[in-house]
Amino acid sequence: MELITKVSLDCPIPLVYGVFDNEEININDALNGYVNKLKNEKLINLSLGAVNKIFPTNLPNKAIFLIGLGKKEEYNYQNLIKATSKITNKLYDEVIVVLNSFVGNLSKDEVLKKLLLTTFSYNYHYDECKSKKSNQKFTLGIYDENCNHRIIDEYVNLAIAINNTRDLVNKPYNYLNVNDLVSYCEELVNNLNNEAINLKVLNKDEIEKLGMNAFLGVNKGSALDAKLIHLTYQGNPNDEYFISLIGKGIMYDTGGYSIKEKMNNMKNDMGGAATALGIFEACVNNKLKVNIQVIVCATDNRISADALLPDDVVTAMNKKTIEIVSTDAEGRLTLADALTYAQRNKSHIIIDIATLTGAVCVALGEYTTGIFGNDKEMIKKICEYGEQENEHIWELPITDYIREKVRSSKVADLTNSTGRYMGASGAAAFLEEFIEEGSKWIHLDIAGTCFLTSPSYNEEYGATGVLVKTLYQYLKNY
Ligand code: BES
Ligand code: MN
Ligand code: ZN
Repeated sequence: MELITKVSLDCPIPLVYGVFDNEEININDALNGYVNKLKNEKLINLSLGAVNKIFPTNLPNKAIFLIGLGKKEEYNYQNLIKATSKITNKLYDEVIVVLNSFVGNLSKDEVLKKLLLTTFSYNYHYDECKSKKSNQKFTLGIYDENCNHRIIDEYVNLAIAINNTRDLVNKPYNYLNVNDLVSYCEELVNNLNNEAINLKVLNKDEIEKLGMNAFLGVNKGSALDAKLIHLTYQGNPNDEYFISLIGKGIMYDTGGYSIKEKMNNMKNDMGGAATALGIFEACVNNKLKVNIQVIVCATDNRISADALLPDDVVTAMNKKTIEIVSTDAEGRLTLADALTYAQRNKSHIIIDIATLTGAVCVALGEYTTGIFGNDKEMIKKICEYGEQENEHIWELPITDYIREKVRSSKVADLTNSTGRYMGASGAAAFLEEFIEEGSKWIHLDIAGTCFLTSPSYNEEYGATGVLVKTLYQYLKNY
């Protein structure tokens, strides 16, 4: 999608107006009478999200699209998103949106932000692997007398970062393995071209030297060596500490010897890593004055003669021993060592993002992310930003009961699987074992929300880019 902001209405390009259902029509003088007539004769439908196309003879524009906004007194940001989600190349390959017509009683700046995020999101298509590319060309003009360019630049950067996250998640494993992810990070750093960034990639030898044997256990069955990606951005040079964004980076999850019966879509098991990289990109491009570091323990979870076995015991970087009850509970093994690594690398504030459990999807579904952590204030704030960004987040508990279960192994300090009940909490309780005193920690389980196989709101099939905008807002206001 291409965006242009210096536009005039006096041109052949079709215009898009938002129109309330229960109000006198007031679009522009050339149209009001005609549209009112159409409305009175019930020839147009202005209920929320309805799209009408008219061909006025007294204007230079090829067509006018009227998108229903429903009742004015019911209008809110949710309805704005529903209406603006219709602004796609299904209308025409170039349109000009008249911003003011979508404002109603809302804040014009907020309307502009939501309009940008929604149109970039709904015009995204993943067709890298199709021989016939879908007709992707779409030029969106935004008409506003005093257009807020600061907001446009910021939100276009954010929208592009979200779509880059989606691209990473949508790529099949044979298009994106661990080495490809490293190359992506190198390219990202080149493109961001910012002195405050540093990328360090640890190879298998270096990871071994650090004693990250929980992480390396998962890598044992893989044909490719594990990599630890450590990407820093020091937007605030007065502080030497970093907020860590730890992303689960399982490039493909077969389950290992505890093999999955149905492993389709497990290419998305690096969704947490992709999300962390999207947040990083948005923060750097918008020059936020925060220090953040992305940490990804990247590998796939596969089977070979050397692969980890159920009953094996591995020793994590923090020296805790772990009984492998299921090789399919691999994410928490890689995250455990990533958590220790973060805390030994200038970080007391940690947010991990992971497609960690099927259980969170059973509990909360595809439109609500599960949140856990040891800092109520942080949880509350992140949930609030989630609501504001239309990304729902709900706190789930870590109880003493589940903590005891995690410590109930007969042969090691910890077990990597607490069974079917409370699965999402069991994973969180396991991660908590790796949080050191004084660290603030948040865990976001996006297994349900990261990838949609049957979207309910006309979204694109596949990766959603969930949480990039929510956590961007959190960091921006930090
Ligand atoms: N990657 C999966 C979780 C997942 C499931 C993500 C569905 C996206 C959609 C994870 O590694 C996993 O396999 N978890 C197991 C844990 C169990 C063995 C304790 C699960 O949820 O079944
Ligand atoms: Mn698994
Ligand atoms: Zn997994």
